[in-house]
Amino acid sequence: MEKSFSFQTNLLHNKWKVDEQTGAVSVPIQHASTFHQADFDVFGKYDYSRSGNPTREALEETIAELEGGIRGFAFSSGMAAISTAFLLLSKGDHVLVTEDVYGGTYRMITEVLSRFGIEYTFVDMTDLHAVASRIRPNTKVIYVETPSNPLLKITDICGIVKLAKANGCLTFLDNTFMTPALQRPLELGVDVVLHSATKFLSGHSDVVAGLAVVKDRGLAERLYKLQNAFGAILGVQDAWLVLRGLKTLHVRLQQSSQSALKIASFLAKHPKVEEVYYPGLSYHPGHSVQRYQAEGFGAVLSFRLADEAAVRTFVKHVQIPVFAVSLGAVESILSYPAKMSHAAMPKEERERRGITDGLLRLSVGLEAAEDLIADFERGLSYVSAKESLAPSF
Ligand SMILES: Cc1ncc(COP(=O)(O)O)c(C=O)c1O
Repeated sequence: MEKSFSFQTNLLHNKWKVDEQTGAVSVPIQHASTFHQADFDVFGKYDYSRSGNPTREALEETIAELEGGIRGFAFSSGMAAISTAFLLLSKGDHVLVTEDVYGGTYRMITEVLSRFGIEYTFVDMTDLHAVASRIRPNTKVIYVETPSNPLLKITDICGIVKLAKANGCLTFLDNTFMTPALQRPLELGVDVVLHSATKFLSGHSDVVAGLAVVKDRGLAERLYKLQNAFGAILGVQDAWLVLRGLKTLHVRLQQSSQSALKIASFLAKHPKVEEVYYPGLSYHPGHSVQRYQAEGFGAVLSFRLADEAAVRTFVKHVQIPVFAVSLGAVESILSYPAKMSHAAMPKEERERRGITDGLLRLSVGLEAAEDLIADFERGLSYVSAKESLAPSF
């Protein structure tokens, strides 16, 4: 395939554009769980679908190419991808983790990995000195989420990679919020890129899936072994849905990101909004790092109202966004981290990280930005000034 194509064109015109056998312009869904062996000692490319399946392979090769890696792996959820990658660690190893990491990842580390003797430290990754000071002799992985969830903090990827390499650690990066359309961490030296493909990659709130991509052959072998051993593979119907969603990734993200900037600017000027977190705002502390390491600011933002009462009033009166867990879909999704994505985190931990009861996260979809702004204006008009002045703790 032509290497000179842009990312946008590559989403459509790649190895999987046309099925070689039939000319079909959609990847065939191969349901078989097992594959006939031609003779006693003759093994085909596929033997059993947990170990390899052509439809899943199409997705795995596609994401590897889009991320600039050599091998991709598709899992039954983002958490399955993340958890399988963590199986690269062994008893006695230590992992350094972004402080406001996704709640499910926090739960996996604190409640599951800890039982297997894996140590952890959460750290504010926007502070490279803090990261450096927390590295121990047994630190094997630095786990980054940037932008982080839900406070959209930006980590300097190259800075972390430098520290990791100097200390013999691997770097894992959850690229769910950016996708390779905006950020390609492997090109910046990261070792394992992880995705909840449930989000922007598939894009339509109709599939749960996870992906991992690596660029090192040895790491690819180790991760393949773990994928096959742990067995949390993605089913073929779901692999096909992710492949279909990927075709419109660029245009969806471009449109939603433009709207996100308009909405963030609107919210930032609104008197009833205490704070807006969006790296596209020029005064966001991570704005310049984000400009350097990514090709955009994404379609997710968070904002803080005074307290839970203000949030309840606002949510009750907005009409367009769905109020739900998740993000990265064609429809705008408003979510309440304290009771949704970060419910797994104890209240003190949440609040220490700034995930207070007044915080809302918005994933901007494909509605007209003007309609969303008018809807939010109306929703905020119901939030009383008294509510907005109440202390947030
Ligand atoms: C940043 C991030 N990583 C990982 C996950 C987990 O993905 P999944 O829900 O597909 O298991 C999520 C889910 O919301 C997420 O937001």
